[in-house]
Amino acid sequence: MQNNNEIGEKDELYDVAVIGAGPGGYHAAIRAAQYGAKAVIVEKSFLGGTCSNWGCIPTKALYASAVLLEEIQEKAAELGINVAEPTVDFSKAVERKNNVVKELREGIAGLLKSNKVDVRKGFGRIVSGDKNSGFDIQVEDDGNSHTIKAKRVIIATGSKPALIPAFNIDHKKILTSDDILTAEFNTLPKRLLVIGAGVIGCEFGNIFSRLGAKVTMLEYLPTMIATEERLVIKELKSKFDKMGIELHVNQNVLNVEATDTGVKATTCDAKVPRDEVDGAEKQTFEADLCLVSIGRAKEAGGMGLEDIGVEVDRRAGVIVDAETMETKVAGIYAIGDVNNQGLMLAHVASYHGDIAVSNALNDIGGFDIHLRKASKKDVVPYTIFTEPEIGSVGMRSKAAKQMLREKGKKAYIGRFYYNSLGKAKCMGKEDGFLMIVADSETDEILGASCIGAEAPEIISEITLAMQHGITAPQLGHTIHSHPTLSELVLEAAEDVHGLAIHKAGRRR
Ligand code: FAD
Ligand code: NAI
Repeated sequence: MQNNNEIGEKDELYDVAVIGAGPGGYHAAIRAAQYGAKAVIVEKSFLGGTCSNWGCIPTKALYASAVLLEEIQEKAAELGINVAEPTVDFSKAVERKNNVVKELREGIAGLLKSNKVDVRKGFGRIVSGDKNSGFDIQVEDDGNSHTIKAKRVIIATGSKPALIPAFNIDHKKILTSDDILTAEFNTLPKRLLVIGAGVIGCEFGNIFSRLGAKVTMLEYLPTMIATEERLVIKELKSKFDKMGIELHVNQNVLNVEATDTGVKATTCDAKVPRDEVDGAEKQTFEADLCLVSIGRAKEAGGMGLEDIGVEVDRRAGVIVDAETMETKVAGIYAIGDVNNQGLMLAHVASYHGDIAVSNALNDIGGFDIHLRKASKKDVVPYTIFTEPEIGSVGMRSKAAKQMLREKGKKAYIGRFYYNSLGKAKCMGKEDGFLMIVADSETDEILGASCIGAEAPEIISEITLAMQHGITAPQLGHTIHSHPTLSELVLEAAEDVHGLAIHKAGRRR
């Protein structure tokens, strides 16, 4: 990583120092610089953080190869295009993925440079200070260390794969998502065992299965992607079944071990009480490689945060004020995966970055900023890149119904299917649906779930509507271009009152 400044300018006082250059950190540093602040960012590894290097971007680059293969295998002939039986060159797909990652990293370096953000390579640790005199941050890289001083600090150190000792992760056969996404991992396993059928498990399960691996997934809960809408889960499960992905739910994975031929996981029924596990009936699952994707742990250690008074919960991460992202120590903020505020997503980290920067600079004074406070009313879209894709925002129908019932009200649900949409038919993408849940009295949109082609894009429009209080009928009265997939939104919004034109049935 380049250093835009000479290291060790002792007396330099930055307005803002950011520790960690993921989508939370680099966004915050650039935003601070845009507002005229003197900003520095400290990164121990690669610019772009988890998202660009071991998360969002490399997975979606590999996903693109899987999607293209599906189109060729399942759609080309139907659309009148005859192609020879495709073969997979996994190492080529990985090489492309590596190039995408590299280009994005370079792009971020360029953005930081053009915004005059100083970049320091090394492990950042806040050693002393307060908001009146500024904070001292020690930056350590390969045995060399220097100190920088800043009026405000933003901790954006993210998360890392959660580990369980009994899973014996050896980074060779028993892997985390980081291991699979390293530049060197370029051999497609014949059989992949995935532990945890959450977002990461499902995204990798989908990619590897499509590219030719036999995928077996073990999940502790009674269902995969448990936080999604019931019908969405059902639709994805049915697609996974067709692809030959074996999903075993209610599995308490007791241990995973590397064997001479690959890996072996031993499980028992998740309902067996902890103290009866030893005597319980066991099942074993074998494969060539195992991916452990059972959640993420906060990266808050080693920075001496507790020593300077920052409150850190081992599981929840750095405790911050929900409106400003400020920690218990005035002048120190924490954003993104590392803090205790909600979903661990790239766009949430960037959003936190904006909030922290505007509050920090407002506190310093003298900057022309747009002050923002985080609010529970800010809606967060969530997407899962499987085939079909999933997008969701707000409440699921069960929770919305329950909430309205408690207020003596009812939910209206508008639903529209891709197979009734002209554009989806033309594209040959007829699987899936969009559902919108609204308050029957006020028409307020409480949530939406979409599964099907471009679902993550579809859900953006509903996010905008929810954020700005646009009701279901108002959404339905907005002219949508034809033929587009976005007409799903129009039709589902109209269907809230039984007024979708291209759907059989009566008005409510
Ligand atoms: P990170 O991106 O984790 O960045 C933190 C940075 O801080 C890292 O670069 C780290 O090296 C650095 N750091 C840590 N400690 C120090 C220190 N003491 N000193 C200096 N530097 C330090 N989210 C989405 O929204 N969409 C997706 O499609 C998506 N896909 C994902 C796929 C996978 C496989 C994974 C693992 C995650 C995915 N995520 C996705 C989640 C997303 O990557 C994270 O939510 C996001 O990266 C969090 O951003 P962050 O800035 O908080 O932290
Ligand atoms: P997750 O919380 O989504 O899923 C973990 C799954 O593992 C859960 O279903 C859980 O029940 C299961 N599990 C936990 N312990 C287990 C055990 N011992 N045995 C069997 N199953 C067990 O976490 P995941 O998939 O690791 O993702 C981490 C984070 O990364 C998520 O918070 C997500 O927000 C983010 N992410 C986002 C993506 C996106 O936006 N498209 C893609 C990938 C990750």
